[in-house]
Order: sequence, then C-alpha cells, then structure tokens
Amino acid sequence: MKVMITGCNGQLGSELQASCPAYHELVCVDLPQLDISDDKAVSEFLKAQQPQVIINAAAYTAVDKAESDQALSYAVNADGAGNLARGAQQIGARFIQISTDFIFSGEQSSPYQPDDQPGPMAVYGASKLAGEQQVLTENASAVIIRTAWVYSRFGGNFVKTMLRLMAEREELSVVSDQVGTPCWAAGLATVIWRFLEREELQGIYHWTDAGVASWYDFAVAIEQQARELGLLEKPCTIKPISSADYPTPAKRPAYSVLDKTSCWQASGLEGQHWQLALGEMLQQLQQQQ
Ligand SMILES: NC(=O)c1ccc[n+]([C@@H]2O[C@H](COP(=O)([O-])OP(=O)(O)OC[C@H]3O[C@@H](n4cnc5c(N)ncnc54)[C@H](OP(=O)(O)O)[C@@H]3O)[C@@H](O)[C@H]2O)c1
Repeated sequence: MKVMITGCNGQLGSELQASCPAYHELVCVDLPQLDISDDKAVSEFLKAQQPQVIINAAAYTAVDKAESDQALSYAVNADGAGNLARGAQQIGARFIQISTDFIFSGEQSSPYQPDDQPGPMAVYGASKLAGEQQVLTENASAVIIRTAWVYSRFGGNFVKTMLRLMAEREELSVVSDQVGTPCWAAGLATVIWRFLEREELQGIYHWTDAGVASWYDFAVAIEQQARELGLLEKPCTIKPISSADYPTPAKRPAYSVLDKTSCWQASGLEGQHWQLALGEMLQQLQQQQ
C-alpha cells in the first residue's frame, strides 16, 4: 500500500519509517514540506499523492509551551488533524490519528477505557481532544490510537533528558505522584503497522507498554539499566518529590494509565512490560555509541 506519514521526523514518525514492512510504499512528510494546519496545502498534496493510508504522527507536543501558544497548539493538533481526516475521506484513504492520555483528567484510580469521559487539564490535551473530535466528524471510519509517555532513540524525550542529567549530577529529584505507563515508540509503530493489516478496525484504541510507573519509578529504572549497560559511568541518586514541588505551566493528570485490552484483542499484539521495552531502547543507544 501507499502509506503517507506526517510528522515523519518526530519520534513516532522515525520509528514508523525504521520498521515499515518492505511491501509498503512510503510518502514521508514533515515541516516545512507540508504544514498540516494548511488546509489547502493538505488537500492539494493528498490529491497529488493519492496515498491509500495516512498516519498522522505530526503534532504540537510541547505540553508546557502550549499554555502560552494556544493558537498554534489548536491549529496543529485540532485543525491539522481535521484537515488530514477530511482529505483522507475525499480521496478514499484510511486515516490513523495518534492521540494522548492527556485528554483525561487523571481523577480515576483504575485504567482509562477508550470510551471513558475525557476532561483535559491543560491546552495540549484539550487541543488533542479537539483533534479527535474533528477526526471523527470528518471521517467516521478513522482509527484513533491514544498513547502516553512516548520515548525513542530518535528525538528528544524523558529517557534522553534523564541520561544527560544523570551524567551531569549526583542527585536528581523526580515527581512520584504522577502515575502512567511509558511507551517505547518502536512498539507503538509495530502496532500501527498491524492495524494497517486489519482494514476492518476503526474507532478509538489505547496503546502503551504494559505495567504502571510514576516518573520517579521510570527515572530509577533508567538509572539502573543505564548503569548496567555502561551508558552511565557513575551512580546518580534519584529522589521522589511531589508535583507541588515541581510546578510546571501545564497541569498534568495524576493518574493516566490506559486500558489496552481492546487494542491487544484487535491487533493480536500485547505490549511488553515497560521495563523490558526500556531495556531494548537503551541497548539501541548503547549500540549507537
Ligand atoms: N511524546 C509523548 O510523550 C506523547 C505522549 C502521548 C501522545 N503523543 C502523541 O504521539 C504522536 C507522536 O508524538 P511524537 O512524540 O513522535 O512527537 P514529536 O517527536 O514531537 O514529532 C512531531 C512531529 O510533528 C511535526 N510537526 C509539528 N507541527 C507540524 C505541522 N504544523 N505540520 C506538520 N508537521 C508538524 C514536528 O516538527 P517540528 O519538530 O519541526 O515541530 C515533529 O517532526 C503525537 O500525536 C503526539 O501528540 C506523544
């Protein structure tokens, strides 16, 4: 199939390119070649290229910056997603949108189901939720996969930031009262390629790795595994702190574990535990060094 990936230079876009089955033909785009918030440019590009599937991995992902950049966040995450979904509908292409756990308020204490009530706490999550709504309005057969805490060997992310800070400092404080599940973007890419094989799938699904962690737990695992692999030469003490002690412009959900059951059933793939996925990604970084 001819598959178009938007945001192809981001974490997920890069992992999708790296793991694309050889029998697909890829059309990869990112800024500045195609701005998804430009409706006319999107429509013309799709009509010229005629992809059979569009995977929207493009997004405005600067969660804290979005608080003071609401217009751009909505232009990309809401209107951009809507433009692509409408364009896909016009040319008869299948559309896959990626969304986020940040559309939830975090007030639950059990994993969020795909049809649980959303309640974003900040601009980024609200703009992604508006994107979901535009996508489903424009394209009733679209697939939306919500994910969370994404990291990869490509691009910037929590794992790479932690490794840098751990190498520089002897002690780090990390919030322990925000709980979710990390997601290795390579695993998410594998699931997306599986969804392409199941043409009957539509609607909202959740995907992260398996298990539960706080950012503090995640940081502790990064430190331990990185030391074992020789990515860190000296130990770094990780201290748990509360979100109140680490104020950020955007409020984040205290609990955003996603229930993945329907995605596991639909795709036939079950996520591995996040600590195992982290180990695989750190091994990739080790091999790159
Ligand atoms: N990262 C996470 O922790 C996380 C968590 C939950 C859900 N998600 C979702 O997962 C998906 C993939 O995230 P990611 O981490 O791979 O994001 P990413 O690394 O930030 O990549 C996003 C890509 O989209 C591009 N982009 C931004 N604005 C654009 C526009 N107007 N038109 C076209 N391309 C544009 C970016 O280009 P520039 O770099 O030049 O801006 C970047 O290459 C997104 O839908 C995101 O909302 C991510």
